[in-house]
Amino acid sequence: MARSVPVIVASGNGASALPSGLRILVRGGSALDAVEACAKIIEADPTDTSVGRGGKPNVLGEVELDASIVDGTTHRTGAVAALRGYLYPISVARAVMERTPHVFIVGEGAARLAREIGAERTQNLTPSTRKLWVERLRSVGETPASIRRRAKLLPVVRKTVREERGTVNFLALDARGDIASAVTTSGWAYKYPGRVGDSPIVGAGNYCDTRYGAAACTGYGELAIRNVTAKTAVDRLATGMPPDMVARAAIADANALEDAAFNIVVLSAKGAHAAATNRKGRRYVWMTGAMREPTIAPRILVGRARR
Ligand code: GLY
Repeated sequence: MARSVPVIVASGNGASALPSGLRILVRGGSALDAVEACAKIIEADPTDTSVGRGGKPNVLGEVELDASIVDGTTHRTGAVAALRGYLYPISVARAVMERTPHVFIVGEGAARLAREIGAERTQNLTPSTRKLWVERLRSVGETPASIRRRAKLLPVVRKTVREERGTVNFLALDARGDIASAVTTSGWAYKYPGRVGDSPIVGAGNYCDTRYGAAACTGYGELAIRNVTAKTAVDRLATGMPPDMVARAAIADANALEDAAFNIVVLSAKGAHAAATNRKGRRYVWMTGAMREPTIAPRILVGRARR
């Protein structure tokens, strides 16, 4: 059996979860279990306003969560989108993968499945994110009561959405050499109800293949959907391109479409990794079984060429 040095790579906001994920890997656990465990920690953390509980809501004040998980060895995948009222969307995504004949379930159907499997319910809108929502509404001349009465949301959404699209990525390589990836998010803050980003779309915001590596995105998800970014990145790894070049190429692809914040993390099948961004000051984190705590590293900055 091939032996690999376990490693987990994450977007910067995943740092606090890495020690728990590594504990799973150093005890011989699977990459799949590690990325799910890491994602759950951030989903339950109300201080991360871009993921899970405490995530920013849509324009109506409803927290709609997207998540996906990919097993790079079997290419089994599971995803949920616009899930409301549950604490661990990533585990519902895993249930889609392991307990249904499907790969992607959304909205009321996702909530129904969550209920059916006994997933933990929660109120994802916290007092502090509710306050932020009310402030954003006030800044565009609306209140919670007025927005609910509106027949047309589009004119308001055009003003409520700004560059606020967090998300957390976890890519793991386990001791057997298997790779898995997980992505979970509350999506674009104050979005149109039902908007789905790249995070639950396998191949766009999340993809891995144990033979070549893994990639996952944060930032403006519409760009990852349009460029099929994560699958393209893994395809580039398959050609032998190193992770730093793969990450740079992904940001260049995004920059070619629009000027919007976009980030990627990349992990090769051998455990090499890199991350890139088109905004200054962004970081990513990684940890191996030999480390006591995660390393926080700068992302490669790929600016947009003047046109
Ligand atoms: N990348 C997260 C989103 O656009 O929803």
